[in-house]
Amino acid sequence: MTPSSGSSLNYEFNKDLKSFNTLGLPGCARQFASFNSLSELISLLHDARRQQLKVKVLGGGSNVLMPPRVEGLVLQSGMAGVTLLRQDQDSVWLKVDAGKNWHDWVLESLEYGHGIENLALIPGTVGASPIQNIGAYGVEVADVIDSVQGICLSSLQLVTLSNHDCRFGYRDSVFKRELNGDFIVTSVTFRLQKRFQPNVSYGPLASWAEQLPGFTAQQLIQQVCDIRSSKLPDPDEIANAGSFFKNPVVSAGQAAELKQRFESVPGYPQQDGSMKLAAGWLIEQAGWKGKTSGNITMHAQQALVLTTNGHATLDDVESAYKAVQKDVAGKFGVTLEPEPQLF
Ligand code: EPU
Repeated sequence: MTPSSGSSLNYEFNKDLKSFNTLGLPGCARQFASFNSLSELISLLHDARRQQLKVKVLGGGSNVLMPPRVEGLVLQSGMAGVTLLRQDQDSVWLKVDAGKNWHDWVLESLEYGHGIENLALIPGTVGASPIQNIGAYGVEVADVIDSVQGICLSSLQLVTLSNHDCRFGYRDSVFKRELNGDFIVTSVTFRLQKRFQPNVSYGPLASWAEQLPGFTAQQLIQQVCDIRSSKLPDPDEIANAGSFFKNPVVSAGQAAELKQRFESVPGYPQQDGSMKLAAGWLIEQAGWKGKTSGNITMHAQQALVLTTNGHATLDDVESAYKAVQKDVAGKFGVTLEPEPQLF
């Protein structure tokens, strides 16, 4: 691939990134540009290579820990198209550009099919959704992803990864591990189901569904939005990055030991015999629910969410989350792993 000649690339220098990350951490990029086509993106990548600039791509900024200064080129996709690729009797395949707002896509998906209703109101973009395999209320985006398209930074080639290639796990994928820093998601192909077969296995959804037989997909989305809004702070009002920690998975032996010491510890058995524990409960029991430390508060409605007062720095966040980790490890012997990644 060669850079498209004559395209005018609009760079911004020393770009303020505070409003580009939902934790509201102060940050600044040496160079910043957004792109509206693949050829523009490729030109930018060639340019960055010539200047020996490291490239980073920002989605909705809802899962990043922003450092004070990013010495490189930060890119953001302005592409938000939806293309119907094909369909059969049961399913429809749609290619969605990485820059599309995730919740807008959830709403629009109803025009085509079903499968992502439970993922309504998750902040961020379509391009970010496979990176950490976003999930909520019994559904993970991996359940509906057919493939992911993107550009390998080392080769500057367009690549398609099948669902299997993405090696999805709980809040995990190949993009977070083997391909970390070397892949830009440009679009995601979803396979939606034509028939509405809702997943209402999650407790609060199950009780709601029982009282409303025959509910519509629209109503399910509304219910998911209501549940989320009652527990999770709106990042536009209170700076946060959603769940700050992953729910830790412990061995069956450790889970049994914990159950003996703490009878009510919520745990979800995994297929391999291990147990996923509710990090929010552990944090609450460690005394951090609603607790403030400087500019950071662990949310009073859901202790798993770390919020800032808008004046926090990366150092503030790091010292607060390490204090939470220390207290949880001290009480339960369990290590909590942060969900957001250092940008
Ligand atoms: N809990 C507490 N105290 C708290 C929070 C939770 O005791 O402060 C207990 C609850 O009582 C419940 C259990 O923990 O028994 C689980 O809580 P919840 O249903 O709220 O779910 P979660 O495991 O804390 C996960 C996801 C959320 C997702 C919800 C619903 C992770 C890290 N988080 O939270 O995802 O919305 O399930 O499916 O897996 C996100 O990733 O940003 C996110 C919000």
